[in-house]
Amino acid sequence: MDRWERTKIWVSVGSACAVIAGATWFAGMVVSPDYPQRRGYAVEGVPPVDLASAQRSWPVLSAQPGERAELLGYIANIDKAVLPVPAGGAAVVAEPVPDLGTLLAAADPEKGRRAAQVCGSCHTLDNGGPNRVGPNLWAVVGRPVAAHAGFAYSPALSGHGGAWSYQALDQFLAGPARAVPGTKMSFAGLRNPRDRANLLAYLATLGPSRLPFPAPAPAPQAAAPAAKPAPQAGARAPGVPATQTAARTAP
Ligand code: HEC
Repeated sequence: MDRWERTKIWVSVGSACAVIAGATWFAGMVVSPDYPQRRGYAVEGVPPVDLASAQRSWPVLSAQPGERAELLGYIANIDKAVLPVPAGGAAVVAEPVPDLGTLLAAADPEKGRRAAQVCGSCHTLDNGGPNRVGPNLWAVVGRPVAAHAGFAYSPALSGHGGAWSYQALDQFLAGPARAVPGTKMSFAGLRNPRDRANLLAYLATLGPSRLPFPAPAPAPQAAAPAAKPAPQAGARAPGVPATQTAARTAP
């Protein structure tokens, strides 16, 4: 192999390397991969688990008796709304809120009477009682909205229309300003659906005749996908407020 042959080999090896380096640079210019930092989908209702930190503390976790089992139980049940078993206790299952009819059927008017004491700072509840900051609430269940004689209602409530069905009252008492924006009833609302049901059961006793409770909804597994709203009972509820047909938002 003479000198000229060796030169040819070196030149071809060198130019091959140059071509590879150039092609790599050019490909990098054309395609720039951009890897996402976050998970591309979110699982409803499940708080994100910081797997990296769980992994870092894994030996510590497994050193504590029971803790590894707890973590594994959590992961196994993550899609079943079952919280991990607390030490020495039973699993806590997130309880769905029953519908108003079911709550009313089990409501306690006596508890409701005590709860109604907060209303007493603004309302009278007896037959023929005077209007105070708010109107008298005797026989309010089934009464047309904003219809008590001698009370100056806000435009929001007097323009509302319909009657105080159980559903409408339930929505209103959960958050008056949310249910009727612009109402002058400055009351934060009762967050607990059972407290509201007790109160409604008590309000139902105030009046000459009691408006029948809405029927409890059938058990969830029997419910049709397009469930119709429970039939509205009662001669005392001629109109139904528009808010009632809207899906109830859990407070
Ligand atoms: C801080 C005073 C205040 C408190 C407390 C209060 N209300 Fe009221 N309430 C009012 C006022 C004021 C109105 C009139 C609202 C309007 O005109 O927008 C009203 C209106 C109402 C209405 C509509 C009456 C109608 O004739 O249409 C109902 C029902 C009602 N309140 C129930 C209750 C209940 C039940 C409670 C207790 C859980 C309660 N309120 C607590 C001030 C209050």
